[in-house]
Amino acid sequence: MGNKHLHNGLLAFIVAGCMAVAGCTKEPPPDPNTITITFKHSKLFGDPAALQTLIKEFEREHQGIVFHTSKEPGIRVKDETLPSSSDEQHQFYVINLEAGSSDFDVFAIDVIWVAEFAKAGWLRDLSKLLPAQDREEFFRGPVEAVTLDDRVYAIPWFIDAGVLYYRKDLLAKYGGVPPPRTWGKLVRIAADIPKHDIWQGKQYEGLVCNVLEYLWSSGGAVLEDGKVVIDSPENREALKVMVDLVRTYRVTPDLVTTLTEEPSREIFGRGKAIFMRNWPYAWRLLEQDGSPVKGKVGMTVLPHFPKHPSAATLGGWQLAVNKNSKHPEAAEQFVAFMTSAKAQKHLGLTVGFQPTRKALYEDAKLLAAQPALAELYKIFQRARPRPVSPYYVLLSQAMQSEFSAALAGVKTPEEALSALQSQMEQILKRHK
Ligand code: GLC
Repeated sequence: MGNKHLHNGLLAFIVAGCMAVAGCTKEPPPDPNTITITFKHSKLFGDPAALQTLIKEFEREHQGIVFHTSKEPGIRVKDETLPSSSDEQHQFYVINLEAGSSDFDVFAIDVIWVAEFAKAGWLRDLSKLLPAQDREEFFRGPVEAVTLDDRVYAIPWFIDAGVLYYRKDLLAKYGGVPPPRTWGKLVRIAADIPKHDIWQGKQYEGLVCNVLEYLWSSGGAVLEDGKVVIDSPENREALKVMVDLVRTYRVTPDLVTTLTEEPSREIFGRGKAIFMRNWPYAWRLLEQDGSPVKGKVGMTVLPHFPKHPSAATLGGWQLAVNKNSKHPEAAEQFVAFMTSAKAQKHLGLTVGFQPTRKALYEDAKLLAAQPALAELYKIFQRARPRPVSPYYVLLSQAMQSEFSAALAGVKTPEEALSALQSQMEQILKRHK
């Protein structure tokens, strides 16, 4: 008896103490009239408050209602972040979804994973959120990526494509030349000024995005009619140019092999480079108050090799619902809200996510905030998808390691591409 009193007293003390100490977070008691869904996504490159505002708004719109004898549960959203690298997120999801986890309901997936996750049966069919007649409202690339056998497995949230950032002031000083249209011209300007050309050369998914832009803009390809065609004269030439940027022309510093998106943005943002390849998100951060390059940055299409068009890798993130979610209807409502025109516009204005809904490219507020929006629209229309395959991640891992060996000088571009050709053929053969 005495012990029980002591126990209760201690508990009351701990609870009271917890309430008194600032920062001691305590879960509110479960409310039988409220459902909680968990939303997983990567850490944002911008201010996380922007997403919180939307989540709060969704929760306000979905408060529980008790009316006579009927009850409509409210929905709360628990927001959980993962590291920003696509590869690390992929690993997290594969481990958890494979194990049948229901710890998260809604999650953001890279455009390259949809085929794999849908085939594995991990994604809820969201076709009714994006019926055939509404698909035209979105860019074609992401819609194709989320559609398998006419079923839709995720809703495009924001779109990405590789772009060239350049320093307007330095080009003006250099005689008022326009941004370079060819890779050769880019090398010439960067060598003359001299200031660096920065891109993402670390061994990870971003490297594949960068290299493919060189290969495609030389007339090369990875797969054609399901056949591996990576070991071609065009690709050898293009990969050699990338290696030469670092080793021969020295317009790209050696440290490029350690760079992902954010470190490249920081180097360019400190004024250390004249050119940078990156995704459109960087523009807002480079132009924000206090940025040393504010007002000096331009953004345009990537250069290309003579006689071939420029090529941008299609990127971007989609919202999916875990097949094992315990609250699939609530999760679907949240996906519909987060991918709505209103939410996409808010994220465009606050964190610089580019909308997947085409109509927003005529929105006056977004146009004012992002002067290159019309050019981006054209870039997104033409952006090229990485090979769409349930085995994409295996193909990518092979590309990451061979491209990286070429950049590090461990293999010649010829050796790397020839090895890659047989590895990719084997991967596809094994999974026929
Ligand atoms: C961006 C793109 C994504 C790509 C990744 C590579 O997040 O949206 O598609 O895979 O960068 O780093």
